[in-house]
Amino acid sequence: MEQSRRYFLKKLGLATGAVAVTTVFTSQVMAATRKVSKNAEGLPAAEVARDEDFWYPVQNAYSQSPHFINLEAGYFSPQPNVVMEAQLRNIEMINEQPSFYMRRRQREERQEIREMVAAFGGTSPDEISITRNTTESLNVIILGYPWQPGDEAIITEQDYPNMLEAFAQAGKRYKIKLTEIAIPLHPKSDAEIVAAYENAITPRTKVILCTHMINLTGQILPVRQICDMAHAMGVEVIIDGAHTFAHLDFKIPDLHGDYYAASLHKWLCCPLGLGVLYIKRNKIDKIWPLFGDTRAPTNSITKFERTGTQPVGTIITVANALKFHNAIGSKRKEERLRYLKNYWCEKVKDIPGVTLNVPLEHDRSCAIGNVAIEGMTPDELEAFFYDKYRIFTVAINNKAVKGVRVTPHLYTTLENLDLLVDAIKDAADA
Ligand SMILES: Cc1ncc(COP(=O)(O)O)c(C=O)c1O
Repeated sequence: MEQSRRYFLKKLGLATGAVAVTTVFTSQVMAATRKVSKNAEGLPAAEVARDEDFWYPVQNAYSQSPHFINLEAGYFSPQPNVVMEAQLRNIEMINEQPSFYMRRRQREERQEIREMVAAFGGTSPDEISITRNTTESLNVIILGYPWQPGDEAIITEQDYPNMLEAFAQAGKRYKIKLTEIAIPLHPKSDAEIVAAYENAITPRTKVILCTHMINLTGQILPVRQICDMAHAMGVEVIIDGAHTFAHLDFKIPDLHGDYYAASLHKWLCCPLGLGVLYIKRNKIDKIWPLFGDTRAPTNSITKFERTGTQPVGTIITVANALKFHNAIGSKRKEERLRYLKNYWCEKVKDIPGVTLNVPLEHDRSCAIGNVAIEGMTPDELEAFFYDKYRIFTVAINNKAVKGVRVTPHLYTTLENLDLLVDAIKDAADA
């Protein structure tokens, strides 16, 4: 029935209601990427990571300011041009048929996006909600959890401030106790990190907040082991995956978490204002929605979506961002991002006065790194990079980490990183 409706509309030359992604990929850049992708077929991702011919068209798929070098991709990613063009077209399309689109097409197309994100994340669509960002997704869980007075939650001093504040508010409102632990910057083993969480568990602990990739340093935590340990002790785990979705190559259920959230405007390169919330099916029922809803069944993920009128043109652009990402491939992207971080870190790690606040073992970090220079504050180093070299980074002044975060992206060239290396040598000499 649905198929014949689409066929009929197509014959009339009308859009079928399916999210339109194909035309965008006729651009020359993507044609070139497809061609090099073909050449790279069958090669290990770590080898392709070093093949500048492969990455050249990908770099050029993004527009960069000519005025400075952006090594602060940790905040959010720019969209590739083809994705931004698609967003503009989507906005135009909805502007032409405003309430018609909302009443007749929105539901179907948003469902398609949910299904695409679920397929990409390896989950069922009924465990996925599209939100505005990680902060919104995790506030749904942290403030909607059925806390009882005296319950305990474990957080770390390196978790993201918005989540720590959400927990602090939940602490006051629901009278729960928060236990803050420290995470080593250079762990000797996964077991050391798992033990740090395990030692903080008491019979009253209900939840652990676990940041998959710490934004301050880029350190990747062994979330699966943490989840398995926690579950064995009757504790649930909320995973803050702001930095890992479409950065690392994994499926959400592989992590064994109960709840997972990410921002799609970070490594998936979606338009700003898009996030994802995953809730394991059997946990949905007990979480209160942040925005009141009594219509959806309490075990339906849609109960979290009564958030009013939304920028749907932005939301359906997720389809285009996924298409761009998949043209490259998750594993290749992960290995390229890791290669870029290693490229500069390896060149500076033994320079006297230089400290790397990022563990360099393969599975402990990827694109994000952090560097400190003896005798310079993080703010001074950030200013030095920008004022003298026009390299834009961000100072990290956390109680556990002091340094400058450096985050390259797919558009970063090796020449950009060579300049960073010069800047670090210069700072260390100063
Ligand atoms: C670890 C972590 N969690 C959560 C967030 C919040 O992301 P958003 O501002 O997109 O909600 C960030 C942002 O950088 C982050 O690094």
